[in-house]
Amino acid sequence: MKNYNLAVLPGDFIGPEVVDATIEVLEALSPQYNLKFTYNRLPFGGNALESHGHPLPEETKEACSQADAVLMGSAGGPVGDHPWNKVPREKRVESGILGIRKHLGLYANLRPVKVFEGLEHLSPLKTDVARGTDMLIIRELTGGIYFGKPSFNEKDKGLSTMVYERYEVERIARTAFESATLRGGKVTSVDKANVLDVSQFWRDVVVGIHQSEFPQIELDHLYVDNAAMQIASKPTQFDTVVTSNLFGDILSDLAAVIPGSLGVLPSASLGGTVGLFEPVHGSAPDIAGQGIANPVGTLLSAAMMLRFGLKEVDAADAVEKAVQAALAEDATKDLGGTRGTKAFTDAVIQVLPTAAAV
Ligand code: NAD
Ligand code: IPM
Ligand code: MN
Repeated sequence: MKNYNLAVLPGDFIGPEVVDATIEVLEALSPQYNLKFTYNRLPFGGNALESHGHPLPEETKEACSQADAVLMGSAGGPVGDHPWNKVPREKRVESGILGIRKHLGLYANLRPVKVFEGLEHLSPLKTDVARGTDMLIIRELTGGIYFGKPSFNEKDKGLSTMVYERYEVERIARTAFESATLRGGKVTSVDKANVLDVSQFWRDVVVGIHQSEFPQIELDHLYVDNAAMQIASKPTQFDTVVTSNLFGDILSDLAAVIPGSLGVLPSASLGGTVGLFEPVHGSAPDIAGQGIANPVGTLLSAAMMLRFGLKEVDAADAVEKAVQAALAEDATKDLGGTRGTKAFTDAVIQVLPTAAAV
């Protein structure tokens, strides 16, 4: 029996809904793989702002550092007028999200975008366009314009700074080339080098790492505006995409359209001593409490946790296969199916043993 201590950050609105669904699946799966999970649920997000005066309390940071892995839902309030959006920037929920990534040193955010065989019909794109999509977006997560200084919002001026240090680009480039080695052998680096000095620097450093360490990998470059168009019109041309923090944030929501919903995309944030695993989507206040949140993004994030964080590869395969099988039977409502969160979670648990055996 292997014991794993999971720090769990359910977050706000649909965050706890998709996290609870995922814990149910982990519990159903654990006996078969001789695993025992302890779930340490921690205050994080808007709820923590209200209960602890901060979206990322010290106790949460501490517990995450000591965990075997961090499983996160999603945090944040409604996009418009809301008390959580009126606090100083450092107390905003989004600063808490950036804070935990930075605290754990998670510079590499892996966001796979895959259209499972037989599930092409769930895509709003033409079946032939969506079929075979299997790309990995690698988003730099602890640098760029999200963290650059100076940064301020004053009466007559607002400023954010996009800055990359050499070591930050080198390490994310290595992550991309190493990932591509295990995948299709091709990296596309996305930047805006035709306009931004910081992007030309990014490109020069990526090329340097390519030439000196990974010459066997195919490397090409796209400007971010064209990349957005190419992802939507011919997604199968991509294998591994590496890009900066802001561009990766935008391109991954765009790419979520290919499998059919933002609700299905998972992510793994790596590079520190403990990994953090969370869906790409946010807290979706517009659908919270209705029982219709799609748990697939969080379930597949848990599969990434098993694979990359805990090295429980068989259990990871089982979760992925069960999700795929349950989607093939009947998808969630956001994908045009009839199932809500509970019905879909039950279906995953139902097919787990058979899916695992495949
Ligand atoms: P969102 O991702 O929460 O929602 C965008 C749209 O996608 C909504 O229509 C929503 O209903 C839908 N959607 C998202 N997840 C879904 C799911 N699992 N199943 C079905 N439909 C789903 O983006 P937003 O509305 O721009 O942001 C809401 C809040 O979430 C904000 O406070 C934002 O800052 C925060 N946010 C947090 C994270 C995170 O915790 N990592 C990520 C993104 C946004
Ligand atoms: C994401 C989110 C976050 C980001 C926000 C909510 C801080 O959009 O995880 O994609 O921009 O990184
Ligand atoms: Mn985002």
